[in-house]
Amino acid sequence: MILVGSTNATIGFPAGMEILRSGGSALDAVEATIRPVEDNPDDRTVGFNGYPNILGELELDASIMDGRTLESGAIGALKGVIPAISVARKVMETLPHVLLVGDGADRFAKEMGFESTEELLTPEVKAAREKILRQDMSAAEFASLAESDNLRQWVKLATDPERTYGTVNVIAQDQNGDIACGVSTSGWAWKYPGRLGDSPIIGAGNYADNRYGAAACTGMGEMAIRASTARSIVLYLKMGLSITDACAQAMQDLNELGGKFIGRMNLIALDKDGTPAGYSSMKGKTFVYQTSEMETYVEQERTLVEIEERWG
Ligand code: GLY
Repeated sequence: MILVGSTNATIGFPAGMEILRSGGSALDAVEATIRPVEDNPDDRTVGFNGYPNILGELELDASIMDGRTLESGAIGALKGVIPAISVARKVMETLPHVLLVGDGADRFAKEMGFESTEELLTPEVKAAREKILRQDMSAAEFASLAESDNLRQWVKLATDPERTYGTVNVIAQDQNGDIACGVSTSGWAWKYPGRLGDSPIIGAGNYADNRYGAAACTGMGEMAIRASTARSIVLYLKMGLSITDACAQAMQDLNELGGKFIGRMNLIALDKDGTPAGYSSMKGKTFVYQTSEMETYVEQERTLVEIEERWG
């Protein structure tokens, strides 16, 4: 059995490993590993206190996939309700749908008892938003953003890849060999309201199939949507590629995307035999994994595959 994650998932590893060690399911382990990350106020890319959209509203994306059946649940642009990963799991378990977004996602979360009355952004995050956006706009422009008829122009400046984005990825394989994969994010900081990244899109940011393996992405979600990155990795495994060749090929697919708005990408993957892998287009990035034999997680550098960045 094994737990694999993006490095920001380590805060949830004890909870996930406890479930795997006590014979629990990969699905439960994935959810339990991600929930502490969503609660972590210091992680500005996931759940509580994540960086908001350009109007200052927190919009959460999350998905979970069961490799036994390929059943999946996802929520997008969920406003102000955590744990988003648990809402996504409820979509999978209680609805004939896979993905709920916006008002419908909020409504469903409340219907399932996830109502949150807490303020989900701290004053520090609100101040960070103002500081970053004010690099490009006057005080008056900042104050009237909600009424702007040119939000798209500000978004193009504010979402420059030099600023920020991130996500949490977790893959688990339990003692039965079953695989599950979960992803959660507050999305790209300062994004256009309603923007969905790859995290809630099954096949883009998340894919799991017991027969071959699983993969998940962090980075510029638009690229993973365009290249169907997580599904591609699992399909490459199905075609007989090794885990390293499958990931390298998926990174190469991203590098070959045409047009503009090409940024950064990180991915983690696991094959059905329990071999983990981590890849990044940035040097020095790491991922983590832990097996039942290991007392604690190992942090390993991701294999670098360069992607030529092109913005605007
Ligand atoms: N990969 C996270 C996002 O693009 O929202």
